[in-house]
Amino acid sequence: MSVLDVIKTRRSIRKYQSKPVEEEKLLQVLEAGRLAPAANNAQEWKFIAVRDPELIKKLVPACGGQSFVGEAPVVLVICADGEEKIMYCGQPARAIDCSIALSFMILEAAELGLGTCWLGYFSNDKVKRVLNIPADKNVVAVTPLGYANESPAPRPRKSVDEVVAYDGWK
Ligand SMILES: Cc1cc2nc3c(=O)[nH]c(=O)nc-3n(C[C@H](O)[C@H](O)[C@H](O)COP(=O)(O)O)c2cc1C
Repeated sequence: MSVLDVIKTRRSIRKYQSKPVEEEKLLQVLEAGRLAPAANNAQEWKFIAVRDPELIKKLVPACGGQSFVGEAPVVLVICADGEEKIMYCGQPARAIDCSIALSFMILEAAELGLGTCWLGYFSNDKVKRVLNIPADKNVVAVTPLGYANESPAPRPRKSVDEVVAYDGWK
């Protein structure tokens, strides 16, 4: 599939099969994150692949009780490895870097036939406690990873005219 085809067919998945994710596929997803661009190529991130069913169970309340997190055989926890750095443009480098890495990972997962669902609704402190993440690190995003047990229709998107402008804000 072309990158655009993967982008077009990816969906947020909120129902998972218990079927395990093959080691090779997990490694390919993690590799997509490892190769993502980062500000100053700092790569100040850590991608925690949670496979222990007991830990995954504990992540459900840490993710606001989103029960589908507990269905997935793998949960990826994307952490900024160190303090946030605000770039000259005013934007947070580590959060952006981690977001790009996870974007690459969810697309690679989709290419491999695996479902994900980017989660922003989680408690940074609770996820850190479950996974023994040091106090000076931050969890930027979480996603379950596994085979989908649903085929959601595409969610609506704004039109090109609404989101694109040429030669200035219009
Ligand atoms: C930053 C961010 C946070 C999100 N947080 C959640 C979440 O906590 N729970 C959830 O079910 N979906 C979450 N989503 C998924 C969005 O609801 C979903 O991407 C959006 O509705 C579009 O649907 P699609 O991904 O299937 O195209 C999040 C997505 C993003 C990008």
